Amino acid sequence: MLKMENVSKIYRTNLIETHALRKVDLHIGAGEFVSVTGPSGSGKTTFLNLAGLLETFEEGDFYLDGQNVKGLSDNQLSELRNEKIGFIFQSFNLLPELPLFDNVDVPLRYRGFNAKERKERIENALEIVGLSSRMQHLPTQLSGGQQQRVAIARAIAGQPKFLLADEPTGNLDSLMAQQVMELLEKINQQGTTIIMVTHDEQLARRAHRNIQIFDGQVSDLAKDQTDVLIQSE
Ligand SMILES: Nc1ncnc2c1ncn2[C@@H]1O[C@H](COP(=O)(O)OP(=O)(O)O)[C@@H](O)[C@H]1O
Ligand SMILES: [Mg+2]
Repeated sequence: MLKMENVSKIYRTNLIETHALRKVDLHIGAGEFVSVTGPSGSGKTTFLNLAGLLETFEEGDFYLDGQNVKGLSDNQLSELRNEKIGFIFQSFNLLPELPLFDNVDVPLRYRGFNAKERKERIENALEIVGLSSRMQHLPTQLSGGQQQRVAIARAIAGQPKFLLADEPTGNLDSLMAQQVMELLEKINQQGTTIIMVTHDEQLARRAHRNIQIFDGQVSDLAKDQTDVLIQSE
């Protein structure tokens, strides 16, 4: 469960104030798969970074899994983020000099799991994304789609409740984008709540619900409207 009430985010530089998010009210239930769309610069990444505790906000309340995150210290925020959130980015963000196994291990090292536990989680995550046979490959030895699947393995190895994806198929051709989407759907069916920013209308409509952001304001397509949309297909 993720709930925002009246959340606003302003970026301030010497010259200008940017109202990146304006009074966002939003509820995302456990197990939902939500897509987020909107024009470039409308606040999608800001929203995702806020939801994933990578950014702070000045106004409003934000409850992650029932916990009000306002007023938590940086350490408390990192701890919560490490435990509950997995991130996937458009550009994969893998470490090029490390084999896949070690790339997936990176976030687990912060979690205090012992070596045996980490090994099990890494192997399990790489199996879910279909890359078990390539654990010792380097990222550069893989296709873009495969690299994104490694990034997904890294994001889910800690078994987070929330998987946040910022244009995860933005750098992929349509076949690879399909494979990544199918993988995200499989992970969602196993219980992980997913929020995915995308420019791809077709992928956006495959989610349970679509949230649109315009100029920092969220318009949440009502559930029944989404149902009608899905039924009419
Ligand atoms: N670190 C930052 N400092 C100042 N302004 C920012 C920063 N990050 C984003 N913005 C501004 O906030 C607005 C929303 O940006 P962003 O969330 O990245 O949009 P989107 O992901 O929808 O393209 C834009 O006007 C952008 O220029
Ligand atoms: Mg963005």
